[in-house]
Amino acid sequence: MKLNVIVTLCALFSLTRQAPPRDECVCELINSQKAFPHDKLSTVEDNATKCTDNITPQKTLELESLLLGLERRLPQLLEDVSMLEMEDDGDLYAVLSLQVVENELMEIKQLIDRLNGSTLGHQRLTTDTNKQLEDLRAEMMELEAYDTMQVVLRQQDNRRLRRDLEQCKNGLHPTTQPTRPPHGNCPHGEFMNITGPKVYTAGEYPGSYKYGAWGRDPKPEAGKENWYWRVMLTSGNKFSNYVRLYSSLSSLIVGVSTPGNVMIHSSNPTTNTIQGPNVVLYGGALYYNCYNKDAVCRFNLTSKTVTTLQLPKDTRFNSKGNFCHLDECYPYTDLDLATDESGVWVIYTTKQDFGNLVLSKVEEGVPPTLGQTWRTSVYKQGVTNTFMACGVLYATRYVSKDVEEIFYSFDTATGAERFNLGIFINKMPPNIYSLNYSPVDQMLHAYCDAYMVSYEMVFSD
Ligand SMILES: *[C@@H]1O[C@H](CO)[C@@H](O)[C@H](O)[C@H]1NC(C)=O
Ligand SMILES: *[C@@H]1O[C@H](CO)[C@@H](O)[C@H](O)[C@H]1NC(C)=O
Ligand SMILES: *[C@@H]1O[C@H](CO)[C@@H](O)[C@H](O)[C@H]1NC(C)=O
Ligand SMILES: *[C@@H]1O[C@H](CO)[C@@H](O)[C@H](O)[C@H]1NC(C)=O
Repeated sequence: MKLNVIVTLCALFSLTRQAPPRDECVCELINSQKAFPHDKLSTVEDNATKCTDNITPQKTLELESLLLGLERRLPQLLEDVSMLEMEDDGDLYAVLSLQVVENELMEIKQLIDRLNGSTLGHQRLTTDTNKQLEDLRAEMMELEAYDTMQVVLRQQDNRRLRRDLEQCKNGLHPTTQPTRPPHGNCPHGEFMNITGPKVYTAGEYPGSYKYGAWGRDPKPEAGKENWYWRVMLTSGNKFSNYVRLYSSLSSLIVGVSTPGNVMIHSSNPTTNTIQGPNVVLYGGALYYNCYNKDAVCRFNLTSKTVTTLQLPKDTRFNSKGNFCHLDECYPYTDLDLATDESGVWVIYTTKQDFGNLVLSKVEEGVPPTLGQTWRTSVYKQGVTNTFMACGVLYATRYVSKDVEEIFYSFDTATGAERFNLGIFINKMPPNIYSLNYSPVDQMLHAYCDAYMVSYEMVFSD
């Protein structure tokens, strides 16, 4: 594997391995880069400014999403390369870092391939526009090959390039400013927008386990502040019996699970194991829909015990009250667990609510109990997922395979409902099976067709 990593990297760096005395290996990284092509970037920038109305809004959105993804990857690459340069604490960790860098290069390559694909796929665009996109793609490919330091120094140019694309798009189709969502009791101000993807990774099992969830514990135990968790529905895309832990985001990306699995039960499924993808980890405990029950289970990862919280009579469960788009529903999404600044919430529906979303606070006692409950007027089958932030419930709907819209909000402080938020998520894979807000860093974690994707939520303060 090490050889593989080195071969992949040799396009970027020349890597020398030495065998000093004792049982240690030292990785020496020598940067042998050409200067960054400033002139080319500014030509691309100029050309982007001249962008004509040949570019459809959909096209620009897609392109923008890809560029945004690329822009996000580069600083991370830089960070990991610098970390690699500084490391001298033995062979093992250096190999791990090399894998991180390799993984990032792969993801950058994927983004570039998609840029290429989207160029080829839009033959209906005039040749001029095609040429322009081709050039953009070519330039972005060059960026990959250049010194990451230089790339970061030129980030401002990238930002300007994006802004120009933005202006071009808005010039063509003036967007109506969406009505601002309500405040809630938010320490960061109003939720305004969403940017990203910031992380886009296949993780440890590329292509396997389509359904699942991932994220960060908002109230971690001491020493576990940087840990990430992942739950994959390993049985029939419906059930799971363990949570997998990673000591950092990088470990999750490269798929090195140091703490490993914490098992709920050796059988899957069985009483009180996991049913459905919309789970959350909070305060060292996993909250989820218990197998074959209209109840929330709380699995304490320390004591390895499960306590349950029975939901009201006639709560829909066993795939009878799912999230849907058009006529497709996401199986076993009856219960959606969520976290925000104030703790844990459960979103579900009942017969007497005619399939509309119901929201309840989960109180953390032993056993957990159902706190205050709010009834909404949004029909669950018209919603693809929900999440909570600052005491406000947000719901998404499917717009196209590339775009999901955060269209609805319910403020638990005022009871105010909105159906016109108009905040768009640029998707990577088309289906979002779980969405989960991290109040620690204001990131929104999505699990989509075996990929883990995260977005940054933009607040007004
Ligand atoms: C910019 O556009 C000009 C004229 O349309 C073209 O000749 C040139 O190759 C383009 N350059 C890049 C880098 O896009
Ligand atoms: C772009 O895609 C085409 C067709 O799939 C392929 O032949 C070409 O090599 C690709 N170019 C790059 C730079 O990836
Ligand atoms: C939200 O962010 C996207 C992408 O960064 C941008 O295109 C859009 O204009 C922003 N919307 C608002 C209302 O600021
Ligand atoms: C989990 O169990 C440990 C040990 O019994 C206990 O100290 C902790 O408070 C429990 N956590 C939750 C969330 O119940």
